[in-house]
Amino acid sequence: MPTVKDILETMDYGPAPEANGEVIKWLKARGAFGHFIGGAFTKPEATFAVENPATGEVLAEVSQGSRADVEAAVKAARSAQRDWARLSGHQRAKWLYAIARNIQKRERFLAVLETMDNGKPVRETRDIDIPLVARHFYHHAGWAEVLADEFPGTGPVGVCGQIIPWNFPLLMLAWKIAPALAAGNTVVLKPAEYTPLTALAFAEICAEIGLPKGVVNIVTGDGDTGAALVAAEVDKIAFTGSTEVGRIIRKATAGSGKKLTLELGGKSPFVVFADADLDAAVEGVVDAIWFNQGQVCCAGSRILVQEGVEEAFTRKLRTRMAKLRVGDPLDKCTDVGAIVHPVQLKRIRDLVARGEAEGAVLHQAECQLPAKGSFFAPGFFTGVEPANIVSDVEIFGPVATLTSFRTPDEAVELANNTRYGLAASIWSENVNLCLDVASRVKAGVVWVNSTNVFDAGSGFGGYRESGFGREGGREGMGEYLSFPAPKEKAEPPVHAPETSPVPESGAKAVDGIDRTAKMYVGGAQKRPDSGYSYAVMAKGRLLGLAGLGNRKDIRNAVEAAHKASGWGKATGHNRAQVLYYLAENLSARAQEFTDRLRSAGASKGAAEREVAVSLERAFWYAAQADKFDGAVHATKSANVTLAMNEPFGVMGIACPNAAPLLGFLSLVLPAIAMGNRVVALPAQDMPLSATDLYQVLDTSDLPGGVVNIVTGPREELTKTLAQHDDVAALWYCGTTEGAKAMEAESAGNLKVTWAIPNCDWTGPDGQGRRYLSRAVQVKNIWVPYGE
Ligand code: NAI
Repeated sequence: MPTVKDILETMDYGPAPEANGEVIKWLKARGAFGHFIGGAFTKPEATFAVENPATGEVLAEVSQGSRADVEAAVKAARSAQRDWARLSGHQRAKWLYAIARNIQKRERFLAVLETMDNGKPVRETRDIDIPLVARHFYHHAGWAEVLADEFPGTGPVGVCGQIIPWNFPLLMLAWKIAPALAAGNTVVLKPAEYTPLTALAFAEICAEIGLPKGVVNIVTGDGDTGAALVAAEVDKIAFTGSTEVGRIIRKATAGSGKKLTLELGGKSPFVVFADADLDAAVEGVVDAIWFNQGQVCCAGSRILVQEGVEEAFTRKLRTRMAKLRVGDPLDKCTDVGAIVHPVQLKRIRDLVARGEAEGAVLHQAECQLPAKGSFFAPGFFTGVEPANIVSDVEIFGPVATLTSFRTPDEAVELANNTRYGLAASIWSENVNLCLDVASRVKAGVVWVNSTNVFDAGSGFGGYRESGFGREGGREGMGEYLSFPAPKEKAEPPVHAPETSPVPESGAKAVDGIDRTAKMYVGGAQKRPDSGYSYAVMAKGRLLGLAGLGNRKDIRNAVEAAHKASGWGKATGHNRAQVLYYLAENLSARAQEFTDRLRSAGASKGAAEREVAVSLERAFWYAAQADKFDGAVHATKSANVTLAMNEPFGVMGIACPNAAPLLGFLSLVLPAIAMGNRVVALPAQDMPLSATDLYQVLDTSDLPGGVVNIVTGPREELTKTLAQHDDVAALWYCGTTEGAKAMEAESAGNLKVTWAIPNCDWTGPDGQGRRYLSRAVQVKNIWVPYGE
């Protein structure tokens, strides 16, 4: 027994374990779990063991969900959905509120269960995970209450399949289930195979409060169960997990019409400027990469420090790291708990060993790791060459990289030097500098002088290969709602361009004039790379020729669009002025465009209407250029969370074959009004209405490269756009097969796609805020205030 003198000398904290008797009793009473389907648990079948990663002990047996189990759960969800959606928002709110209350009542139980199942410190489950879970259900009870007013004319999506990872098991469940239920959907959720227990405890809460049967269904199992859920008759898939699996799901759902949100990996920058409060920034690193053992999709895993303070910062960081307490997650004084599973531990060890072998220097806390369980000492790398594996692969463990930079520009360049774009954290006492960097970093969430801050009131989600869609707040609600599907109008069949292309030379059209339309790339007319054109026919008459575009033309157009990046930085006012000018120029030539449509076979009335609506639309989107703006979310106190609408950058747009002028403008105008540059494929059968726009575009002060037009075979050119890594988003209006190909081919860089149904373009379906919201991605910037 140590003497008081010994204790005073070591000043050891001593153990402070959280009691886990209640949880053990609960686990013993259950023993093995079936699935939760239609309001009841099934008989456990094909079970596998779930272990406590801190001890290796088996906690429970859970069932491996088969295809039949998934189908039964989807069936239960389907039969419950109509009645659930028919409840008033107020009635659904009451259920969500009851869930929130009951989670709060069991906060301690759930925190301990989560810690035992996942290995994360109880301090985190108690203070972060579970309170946020309750907050999500309370917040979304509110959305159910106000849904009809805040999202008029929308409805639920239907049955949602939800697949979650193991790093924040109950919190990810809450992020998925709360908005889905608020919107009137029913769900089938599959928790991760390592950490299914809190989801099963949640199922018991649903049963206990008497939530209508089938509204929430939980099917446990591994990736095969997840794949079965993706393939099932659901209306939406919401997935959080690895980018690899995200890509598989993107391909598997292509062409299915299932709504999809993907929240994937990251390699997020943590930028420290020389004038930052270095002690605060060091604490920031603790929360950025050592929180939850670094198993956080938005972990600040790439520390970038300005050169002048690199040494001081590294020294402070090492000192702080040495003080981290690694060990029993149930101990309330533990900072770093266990890695979720031996498989993940091995992955971390292998990656770290490779990082060292490739020349990086590992600084690691010299702590005594427990003899049993999956533990890894926190650390960070210095001397990381760009080619080193740890500089761009997500370690998903408690190890960051630390490199230096000289100027803010260099910091931005390094920060963006990744295929991901989930989050960023920026530290400087100069808030102007922070906001400047925040605006230039490609990430869905940016924390200024803070890190890993979350709240149900703000959207969360990524740019680029970190996925698409947002969870939380108003943005997240939109992902669980369906906007009244426009009354789909069958598209007239597209004619294959003449199989033996007409050589591009002086073809005389019906009116005897040589009409060989070129492409429009970088603000100039360009001959097609193929050297061929195709015949544009109407009612058996040759109207003219259009360039037969190919891969090379698309590549050139994308390059030109990239160069026009200034458009995205122009003010909304400036973009509005250019678009007004464009609208006026269009209006001055209304007759010409009407004649063109008539020559293509439209009746006088139809041609006049198409042109008239085109003009209105041009003015409407010009007006929106400086009005469709973001929001300030109400999240934490002493904090502003700025939800900024940002353009994607370069977008591809495949226009409908119907309404050759109006269909083109209905899609291109919202995209450019929001600051995107586009590569547009006009109506394949009648591209001349779009190519007639060249002079309008030229005379409207629209910078070259903002709108690029490539004519030719729509499906083939769309495929090239889908495969192009420098195209960030792609809209397509065409056939079902075409939409499927676009979605499957775009999995490479996980671009945001939108398969737009053909509609009556002259009606209200052809215009509106939903086109604008699809033309932007929301970046949430968190700025704390106060001394
Ligand atoms: P994972 O992506 O395989 O697992 C996430 C979820 O997807 C689990 O529920 C799993 O059962 C399910 N799943 C797996 N394959 C599936 C398929 N083909 N179809 C449908 N669902 C499927 O992640 P894993 O293997 O557990 O971790 C591997 C790496 O992924 C980690 O080291 C980390 O880099 C990353 N990861 C990222 C997460 C994030 O929050 N962004 C969360 C978990 C992992």
